Amino acid sequence: MDFLEVPTIKKKQFVIGNFLTGESKHEIIADIYKGLTAKQKYISSRFFYDDNGSLLFEKITELPEYYPTRTEKSILKGIVSEIIGNSEQLNIIELGSGDCSKISILLDTVSKSKLNHIRYIPVDISEAAIMKSAGFLAVKYPGLKIHGLLADFMKHLTTLPGEGNRLICFFGSTLGNLTRRQATAFLLDIKTLMRPGDRFLLGLDMVKDIDIVEAAYNDKQGVTALFNKNILNVINEYAQTNFNPNDFKHIAFYNAEKARIEMHLMSTTDVVIRSADFPERVFLKKGETIHTENSHKFTDADIQNFATATGLKIENIYSDKNQWFSLVNFK
Ligand code: AVJ
Repeated sequence: MDFLEVPTIKKKQFVIGNFLTGESKHEIIADIYKGLTAKQKYISSRFFYDDNGSLLFEKITELPEYYPTRTEKSILKGIVSEIIGNSEQLNIIELGSGDCSKISILLDTVSKSKLNHIRYIPVDISEAAIMKSAGFLAVKYPGLKIHGLLADFMKHLTTLPGEGNRLICFFGSTLGNLTRRQATAFLLDIKTLMRPGDRFLLGLDMVKDIDIVEAAYNDKQGVTALFNKNILNVINEYAQTNFNPNDFKHIAFYNAEKARIEMHLMSTTDVVIRSADFPERVFLKKGETIHTENSHKFTDADIQNFATATGLKIENIYSDKNQWFSLVNFK
């Protein structure tokens, strides 16, 4: 399916293509039930990002303890001209665009006349996020063409839009939410979709002192705890379950063996979960956890391994002085 064939919403300067069709609610609820009845219970981290969850995540990015966003942005600021280059027509495709504050860093340095030659293609599962960011960018950067794609890029990305050169951006170390195997498979998919001349900019959170990483997921103000617990509200809304977020405690710790932060919700009491759409009730013992997120951290060796495993060529690796975060420019 080509992105131009899908139903579109036209606003003055931007177009939104909707790929989020076909996935049945029935299947999704069956998946939720499967996770809640597994030996280690889990809820997929995709359920974090309803409107409230997206707002909470934006708040996280501003916390003193949460270094990744701030560090990535500072690296990005220093490499804009190298990244944008001087191609005639440039398509910037951002996977999981969220609040688009990162793309603004790129666009801020582009001259007005050049904006006419750039098409920005944000891809996100949240229509609210795309509409908000597209509207904002349309006003801030007159002439910029915007073509939002409402899609789960993990599932629906079978083609990359755009004539001419394409710059694919996958910021925020979102790749870290996948298992290592899934991450390699995902990168291979990207590689397969790329044409000569395309580039792929990947943001990765690096392995570092455990205390720094753990603090980033256990902030003093408790915003990460709210973000974690909000996933239960999203499930209640979606599957008509009866979770009480107050019955759960936010847990985040570094799993050194797997080089990842794990977030869990630990029940502080015995809990029974019901839904008319579940085949049976779900029982949680006091102290049992629901695994809600993995956030893998990477090493230079991981980056090399990704390149070897996928055939992507590393053009450059940009990092901050502490090497806390890396932006890898692949071709
Ligand atoms: C947006 C998935 C990269 O893993 O650091 C922030 C999400 N979770 N705090 C991350 C998150 C808890 C974030 N990612």
